[in-house]
Amino acid sequence: MTRNDEKRQAAEAALAYVDDDSIVGVGTGSTVAYFIEALAGMRRRIRGAVSSSEQSTQLLKKHGIEVMDLNAVGPLELYVDGADECDPHKRLIKGGGAALTREKIVAAASRRFVCIIDASKQVDLLGSFPLPIEVIPMARSHVGRQISKLGGHPVWRDGTVTDNGNWIIDVHGLRIIDPPALETELNQIAGVVTVGLFAHRKADVVLVGNRTL
Ligand code: 5RP
Repeated sequence: MTRNDEKRQAAEAALAYVDDDSIVGVGTGSTVAYFIEALAGMRRRIRGAVSSSEQSTQLLKKHGIEVMDLNAVGPLELYVDGADECDPHKRLIKGGGAALTREKIVAAASRRFVCIIDASKQVDLLGSFPLPIEVIPMARSHVGRQISKLGGHPVWRDGTVTDNGNWIIDVHGLRIIDPPALETELNQIAGVVTVGLFAHRKADVVLVGNRTL
């Protein structure tokens, strides 16, 4: 079984959490692309979706699924999204696709967060995957210096502009012993928009291929 097979299995398993007549929060990435494809098969049974990125919005529309404004329809019952890393407590690193800010907003506005991954994303300790942080462009160097003081190695994802017009710093070399504490600490740095640690609002259910955690 390949990673893509596992992503597709997890994405299809997530359909079981979609209620008839509901509005579904939809994340971003290659695993979510499988989910959107699967959701299209039941699009007449749902009212629509709230999207976490321009990329997912395009895909949803292409599959005939109406995209709605979170301000008009939230809170939501369900958010489905992938992750870059997932620890045994269902805490996540996200943002490999630079969509972390809208992903965090839709996750926060949803009652249940179902995370869909392949087994390569499971880790005992978060931090091998460089932690993405969305920053206001003028704060890039300042945020980088603060991160260095905390022992991380900040690398600017040069050329990437988020859907919100901001930049991404990837933080290498972290061993994240206390994810909620680090999320809180990084959130205090002036110029940080969103930290790609989903520790305070972690996943409720994790689907790894056809296994449920
Ligand atoms: C995008 C994300 C994605 O969920 C994460 O990068 C996983 O992507 P994929 O499903 O392609 O492996 O956080 O910002």
